[in-house]
Amino acid sequence: MKIALFPGDGIGPEIMDEARRVLDALDLPGLVVFEGDVGGIAYKRHGHPLPEETLTMARAADGVLFGAVGDPECDNLERHLRPEQAILGLRAELGLFANLRPATTFAGLEDMSALKPEIAREIDVLIVRELNGDVYFGEKGMRETANGEREGYDLMSYAESEVRRIAHVAFRAAQGRKHRLCSVDKANVLETSQLWRDVIIETAADYPEIELSHMYVDNAAMQLVKKPGQFDVIVTGNLFGDILSDQASMCVGSIGLLASAALGERQTEFGTFGMYEPIHGSAPDIAGQGKANPMAMILSLAMLLRHSLGREDDAVRVENAVAKALEDGVLGGDLGGPAGTREIGDAVLARL
Ligand code: NAI
Ligand code: MG
Repeated sequence: MKIALFPGDGIGPEIMDEARRVLDALDLPGLVVFEGDVGGIAYKRHGHPLPEETLTMARAADGVLFGAVGDPECDNLERHLRPEQAILGLRAELGLFANLRPATTFAGLEDMSALKPEIAREIDVLIVRELNGDVYFGEKGMRETANGEREGYDLMSYAESEVRRIAHVAFRAAQGRKHRLCSVDKANVLETSQLWRDVIIETAADYPEIELSHMYVDNAAMQLVKKPGQFDVIVTGNLFGDILSDQASMCVGSIGLLASAALGERQTEFGTFGMYEPIHGSAPDIAGQGKANPMAMILSLAMLLRHSLGREDDAVRVENAVAKALEDGVLGGDLGGPAGTREIGDAVLARL
């Protein structure tokens, strides 16, 4: 098994150190770990936020664990040299089309949610967002209409194959959870959504044990705050997924607890190749102070174990250790507590 670690900028290296300690404690047989530069640090060392050798390392790995990128000292660089280009570059180069964002309320943290605690308590949803299609990648431009007005346009489109491959990822994810999948679209108005829905229904034939439902996106946004407990896995397109996944994060609460995965099509010997990272950024305001909460990073490692290395048992062990630490009141600054990065890492390791 091969893993590439890309700590990146700001709090990235601090939180990656804690994930690394958890990984070492698992003592996986035959594991090889590479470490590479991405983001501002890569620009400073190699002149590019995504050096060729980093890309080569990612391609050789079964999974990539990514910290965060973003460095205020790089703010004036041209766009293609900005640290954030490393993420976009890796997604494109590695063909990562499926974004998985779990949102779960941890016991004892219901008060952190933007929702009422008794509603927040129910949340345990995985949003599977398509990453390579939709309005973000369709034909776009600015033109002048006949009456001389400016008109902007972005074409929404999905090819059958693009829907089918994300559908398989979502159905497989539901198999490992509560066997419920809700496909979110806008099929009452959009042709793109009609095709989306047809292909999801066709794909469902391969997964008879999964209970499939469909919901329009406007209703899904309401249901996510009204009765979030009804959802297990949600699959949706790039635009709807962008919005719903951020909404789901805030239903849970702190930014320091949420992990994400970007999966590709390539199957490794152990699972699906993917890149895993916390949803937060490099937090320059607290970098180098030992204050960052490493839990989102550690939970990203758990996702890597699950999806790319086929180590479900180890993933669950890591997730349980984090949940137990939270339940025992080990809270970082993002949750209004006093625990620092190393202390939180120690607490998770002790429970592991
Ligand atoms: P941010 O997520 O880095 O920080 C937002 C706020 O949350 C800050 O107050 C920060 O201190 C706090 N925070 C974030 N993670 C935390 C953690 N683990 N523990 C405790 N507190 C935490 O977002 P911001 O400030 O908008 O962006 C900072 C830099 O990060 C920018 O350069 C941005 O482009 C980059 N960024 C990178 C991402 C990535 O690498 N995937 C994602 C989002 C932003
Ligand atoms: Mg977003």
